Amino acid sequence: MPADLQLPIIEPGAPTPIEEDPLDLMDEIDRLKVEKDATILAHYYVDGEIQDVADVSGDSLQLARAATKVASGTIVFAGVHFMGESAKILNPSKRVLMPDLLAGCSLADSCPAPELRLFQDQLRAEGRTFETVAYINTTAAVKALCDWIVTSGNAREIIDRVPAEKEILFVPDQHLGRYLVEVTGRPMILWPGSCMVHEVFSIQDLLRAKRNNPGSLVIAHPECPRNILEHADFIGGTEKMRQFVAARAEPTTLLVATEANMIHPLQKIAPQHTYVPVPGIMASTGETCACNRCPHMARNTLQKVRDCLRDGRPEIVWQPHFDAAREVLERSLLK
Ligand code: 13P
Ligand code: SF4
Repeated sequence: MPADLQLPIIEPGAPTPIEEDPLDLMDEIDRLKVEKDATILAHYYVDGEIQDVADVSGDSLQLARAATKVASGTIVFAGVHFMGESAKILNPSKRVLMPDLLAGCSLADSCPAPELRLFQDQLRAEGRTFETVAYINTTAAVKALCDWIVTSGNAREIIDRVPAEKEILFVPDQHLGRYLVEVTGRPMILWPGSCMVHEVFSIQDLLRAKRNNPGSLVIAHPECPRNILEHADFIGGTEKMRQFVAARAEPTTLLVATEANMIHPLQKIAPQHTYVPVPGIMASTGETCACNRCPHMARNTLQKVRDCLRDGRPEIVWQPHFDAAREVLERSLLK
């Protein structure tokens, strides 16, 4: 279990928390959105019912851009912390709320700003000239130390902007970095981070699913390790996956190697296909598990969306290092 994943503590004799009806919650959220002048943005990895109640659902790039076009005074970001932080940084005048501020990200955690600064200093001391390219799955403090921010949706285009005479330090996702080295032909110094969800797909289960579903296609997120990507018929971020399935008219069985909630928007846009989630494997026991759910994204619930709309908290509060992060985010995502 991730260190920061807190389970509720139920005291002996305490009443069991009441499960609220999802349809009632959705109605209440619709009403509160108007009353509180709020727009809900939701990542494709949160529960389908939250995506359905959101004003915009999308990938990291779409959501960061959508945040800059929001007309309401408040944004509720159903996703993980770095996403809410980016929305705030790009829209300092808006109030940005998150259903759960503890929704983190293993990739962002794998690259703490002080360690990155130390490594950059070492490279400079060795006389190396480089630009640092960060995946958006990083903290604002890390973004403030970087030259460029990429998402799965714009990575190739941004890498092309790095002058050819400069080396590239790519942080924090080693798998996405390795994939980008292959597609761009640019060598990179790779930070050894990874996503806890994409790291654990079971290659044995994937191969078995392929054998059991003749004619199926594998679609995989570039955060997956190479052994999974080698078997993929299509590699792309979440929005690109959506476009891929929508463009394919012939009903197909698609084996999906990314967070399991992604099947919701795929099914919505291309219901002619059959979607089979690729399961993960537990490193400790070797058993197949439901690790294809991101525990951080799962902290978002309809109840918490309602509570944060109703109570106006928790909120992402402006930090001094957001100014430097804003410069790099705007240059990379909006220009
Ligand atoms: P994209 O939606 O940008 O492909 O990102 C996937 C992801 O892991 C978000 O945390
Ligand atoms: Fe981070 Fe992976 Fe969860 Fe995305 S799926 S938020 S990269 S831990």
